[in-house]
Amino acid sequence: MHLPHITPQRLPSVLRRMPKAELHIHIEGSLEPELIFKLAERNGVKLPYESVDALRAAYAFTDLQSFLDIYYAGASVLLKEEDFFDMAWAYLQKAAADHVVHTEIFFDPQTHTARGVPMGTVIQGLHHACQRAHQEFGISAQLILCFLRHLSEEDAFATLEAALPYRHHVIGVGLDSSELGHPPEKFARVFARCRELGLHVVAHAGEEGPPAYIWSALDVLKVERIDHGVQSIQDSALMQRLAQQRLPLTVCPLSNIKLCVFPTLAQHNLKQLLDAGLCVTVNSDDPAYFGGYLNDNFVQLFEALGLGPREAYQLAFNSFEASFADAVTKRAWEHQLKTFFEGLREHD
Ligand code: HPA
Ligand code: ZN
Repeated sequence: MHLPHITPQRLPSVLRRMPKAELHIHIEGSLEPELIFKLAERNGVKLPYESVDALRAAYAFTDLQSFLDIYYAGASVLLKEEDFFDMAWAYLQKAAADHVVHTEIFFDPQTHTARGVPMGTVIQGLHHACQRAHQEFGISAQLILCFLRHLSEEDAFATLEAALPYRHHVIGVGLDSSELGHPPEKFARVFARCRELGLHVVAHAGEEGPPAYIWSALDVLKVERIDHGVQSIQDSALMQRLAQQRLPLTVCPLSNIKLCVFPTLAQHNLKQLLDAGLCVTVNSDDPAYFGGYLNDNFVQLFEALGLGPREAYQLAFNSFEASFADAVTKRAWEHQLKTFFEGLREHD
């Protein structure tokens, strides 16, 4: 496709306005400090932070675990169905403003059921927000249930069981939380069961963990996408496999900087992954904690790496290709994307 020349000054506006999908967003990671404090007050939950500013000041992470400790503390204010609705609604409004036309949202039920919150409260609150966003903004929003990998496979099985009455509200399962020491194969049986149930399967792998974890996510869990996967660069056979199968990576640039996976955005390996033919996508991961929503990730990444309209088109295209939407819907979004780029004039 012919892409017009776009000046660097104009590129951020193109990135912001192009239609796109988001495939790696933890809804608990979209809880802004202001909403955490509002929900804490509404529910009578005492927080170990004095103020919104004190909480924000604690967002100085050194690795994944240092983030997870604060992220789970923030989620402790979520008790009622309307809390889950309010959280998801706030994210979906931002996503719609970012020209996200489709989003596949992760949620961590064990963080809530462990505190006595029923599974139905979590899923129905999130689902109602997805439904309303579809009605009001035309955005399509789906839910992916993540198992916490620092807990046992038995706990994951119990979580799956509890979610089965809401099976029709969930398109797939994922695997998140502390990666090192918790390889994908720990969850081989529960993922096999999820596949039998017809659920889509994805897993975080190769964020901090080694390429071996990406191999086992592929070969043991038989995932359809890898979340993060940036460590695949260390293994050329793995890179070839991912490229040949067009097996998508949901990369999260600002997250990788905040959790010290790369020292700076300019040193991020996304361009190398893209140039090697991998189906790379850009995502926000935990936008309230990592300094930006999806468009902030695009704009800052493109500036740091000096990317242009060709990569913009490719990354947005990949986000649709990598989604779990049906083929007809994907073609419609791809057409919308093409029309958007064709409509850009060289000099306006
Ligand atoms: N990695 C693992 N678990 C997570 C993350 C992440 O980036 N965000 C929320 N849970
Ligand atoms: Zn993640």
